[in-house]
Amino acid sequence: MPLPSLIAPSLLAGDHANLAASARVVADSGATWLHCDIMDGHFVPNLTFGPETLAAVRRAGSKLFFDTHLMLAEPQKYIEPFAKAGSNNISIHIEPGYDHRGTLARIRQLGCQCGIVLNPGTSAAGIETLIGEVDLVLVMTVQPGFGGQPFRRDMLPKLRTIDGWRKTRGLKFRLEVDGGIDLATAAECRQAGADTFVAGTSFFKAADKTAFTAGISAL
Ligand code: DX5
Ligand code: ZN
Repeated sequence: MPLPSLIAPSLLAGDHANLAASARVVADSGATWLHCDIMDGHFVPNLTFGPETLAAVRRAGSKLFFDTHLMLAEPQKYIEPFAKAGSNNISIHIEPGYDHRGTLARIRQLGCQCGIVLNPGTSAAGIETLIGEVDLVLVMTVQPGFGGQPFRRDMLPKLRTIDGWRKTRGLKFRLEVDGGIDLATAAECRQAGADTFVAGTSFFKAADKTAFTAGISAL
């Protein structure tokens, strides 16, 4: 049985002058996850916010599951502050050179779930030996750095490969997609095995966010 579909609206597309209010909009739609994009201007050519901001959204009362996506050249240095800030899951990219296995273990030691992320140019084989040690695999469906980019349909075979490994090995991790996701592209990804859908632009632009969240959750 596939895992139920779940939407993770991305704070990146929210109101950066009032992220706590944007998190409330997400919760009011019926979503339970909040995707938090952390960018360092090195691994990706953009900057967002740090652990203090996340902690402030938590302090403002958000009960959402903080799904923290670290787009950092040296993520291993920032695990503890993001865990303390209230992250529930912390995902790290496979591309930079650091101790991936040790960093995933450290994330779990700190009481969080852990995820591994692949850029569009990285093949599924790049993470194959790590999939038994994660709660989530995130397949980027755009080159990370900016919201609002078009969905990369050529990532669907990668989803099928990873979903196939998950089935044959009896693993339970979530398979998440991020970038250019709306109802139509989420449905394509669901067919290819994805169950967790990051949506930035499409969520915050949706006139009826409750219907949008329900639509993704029903896939
Ligand atoms: C892209 C980020 C995404 C971004 C997706 O670098 O990782 O999470 O918020 O935005 P949309 O949904 O607008 O493509
Ligand atoms: Zn993201």
